[in-house]
Amino acid sequence: MTQSTKKQQAALAAINYIRDGITLGVGTGSTVNFFIDALEGHAQRLDAIVSSSKDSTTRLENLGIRVSELADTGDIDLYVDGADEATKHRYLVKGGGGALTREKILAGSSRSFICIVDDLKLVNVLGKFPLPIEVIPMARSYVARQLVKAGGQPTWRENFVTDNGNHILDIRSLNITNPPELEKRLNQIPGVVTVGIFAQRPADVLLIAGDDGIRTIK
Ligand code: A5P
Repeated sequence: MTQSTKKQQAALAAINYIRDGITLGVGTGSTVNFFIDALEGHAQRLDAIVSSSKDSTTRLENLGIRVSELADTGDIDLYVDGADEATKHRYLVKGGGGALTREKILAGSSRSFICIVDDLKLVNVLGKFPLPIEVIPMARSYVARQLVKAGGQPTWRENFVTDNGNHILDIRSLNITNPPELEKRLNQIPGVVTVGIFAQRPADVLLIAGDDGIRTIK
């Protein structure tokens, strides 16, 4: 099975969690795109849909699905999103697509967060995938210097501006053995908007698609 087919399988498995009348949050990325495409027949069952990025909003609207603002809906019942890395403790690294800030807001405001991944994303220790950190543009080199002191190797994601008008640093060489602690610590650096570690608010359910089907970790 290709990685792309596995992404699609994970996305289709998440459709089963949709209930009538809920407010649904939609993440960002190629896995979520399969979820959005499969949503077409279910959108009318939902009370509202909130999106984590301009890209996902465009894809939803192109399917004729109306997108609401989180400020209008209040908390969301179910949030479905992908990840760049995941552990069996349901800690995640996200932000490969640069949408981490809005994704973390939706994850934080969700009653249930389902993360959909293919089995290549499952790791024992987070950090092989460079950790994305969204920063205020004027703080970019200051934050990068602090990250070097913390043992990381930051790279500026050039020619990329987030939906919030900010920049992204991708940090290599971090061995993330204690994700909640590192998330908290890096969040303290002035100029950091969002750290791509999702551990203070991990996923509630991990749906992992592999050659043998879907594995669920709760
Ligand atoms: C977007 O910023 C990311 O957090 C995505 O959720 C993550 O990169 C997963 O993307 P893919 O589904 O494309 O692998």
